[in-house]
Amino acid sequence: MAEREIPQGIVRHFLAILRHSPICRLAASTALLDVEIKPIRGRSGCALLQIVRNCPDKQFGGDVLQQWNQRASVPPSGIVSASRGIYLDHHATTPVDPEVAQAVVRCMVEDFGNANSTDHTYGEHAAESVENARESVAGLLSAGSEDIHFTAGSTQAIELAFAHAIGAGGPAPLRVALSRVEHPAVIDTAVRAERRGLASLRWLEVSGEGEIDLDELRAAVKDADLLCMMAANNEIGTIYPVASAFDIAEGAGVRMLVDATQAVGRTELDLSTIPFDYLVLSGHKIYGPKGVGALVSASYRPEENHGISASHEPTQNVPGIVGLGLAARIMSERGARTSVGYPCSGTTCWSGFDPACPAWS
Ligand SMILES: Cc1ncc(COP(=O)(O)O)c(C=O)c1O
Repeated sequence: MAEREIPQGIVRHFLAILRHSPICRLAASTALLDVEIKPIRGRSGCALLQIVRNCPDKQFGGDVLQQWNQRASVPPSGIVSASRGIYLDHHATTPVDPEVAQAVVRCMVEDFGNANSTDHTYGEHAAESVENARESVAGLLSAGSEDIHFTAGSTQAIELAFAHAIGAGGPAPLRVALSRVEHPAVIDTAVRAERRGLASLRWLEVSGEGEIDLDELRAAVKDADLLCMMAANNEIGTIYPVASAFDIAEGAGVRMLVDATQAVGRTELDLSTIPFDYLVLSGHKIYGPKGVGALVSASYRPEENHGISASHEPTQNVPGIVGLGLAARIMSERGARTSVGYPCSGTTCWSGFDPACPAWS
């Protein structure tokens, strides 16, 4: 995609958002007024905006970075890079919360026991930390802690959910209903299962806003065993009516897999009232570490999975799990509040990108 000039209106719009961001609140200054916004190529073909400070480090980057990192007591490389601009692509990944990073490091260098070797205090302590993390993740979703199955992230959790739905189902291919805008972690898994004769897929069309038609969904679940629906879209931010979809799926006796990777901690997901069969989440989207996540399911039993399940209990990623647990706890306490704390809703933000919007004139 060719680089194009960003309209001044968009620059002003971003500045308005940035002024309310934690970084700017910490800076308590309007030094950011002097910025340059560069378009950079996005994976989905749309331009991402890279915001580059023009103001001298001393005014903004240096001081703020130093204060931020002092407060966070982590090495200055971690949180805000003065030279690389301000990171806005939190759909791709979030920075690790400094409190979480500290807990992870402590777990790696001090409390480094193997949670499966509980015949001494190191192992016991590690096992206890894993159980605490399980409770924190469960707490974020009002789920049972025994329903939290730690994984290497959402992708692995999705694969396990499919392996279980296939393995626990009958000999016929699993009939899966899913939209064309699911994350590739769902689509690729479903397509691979179909190629191997383990699943048949029914694709749900979406509107230009990425929305699903509930009447079409109602018709689709009549011939389905599993409905896959993301709770929030990672590319365009559409929020899906997973609660209504669950009612429809449940009424038709169909299991439901909710990819909540982008939604956890930010939208209401209460498994005590809406018990999705499978829900997946990932640490690195909620200010936790990468490569750790969870499959949340009351019905999941690894021994029922399609394929060869390991009979040996693998060594657990205790630091990652501890980080995920703490990130989940912080999200429970502050996530929803922070998400609504930004000065504009997704819709008003989006209108900011419309060149016809009067705000840009
Ligand atoms: C909606 C959605 N689902 C699944 C994934 C995969 O998550 P992970 O990186 O934890 O495997 C992502 C990550 O980009 C995502 O945004």
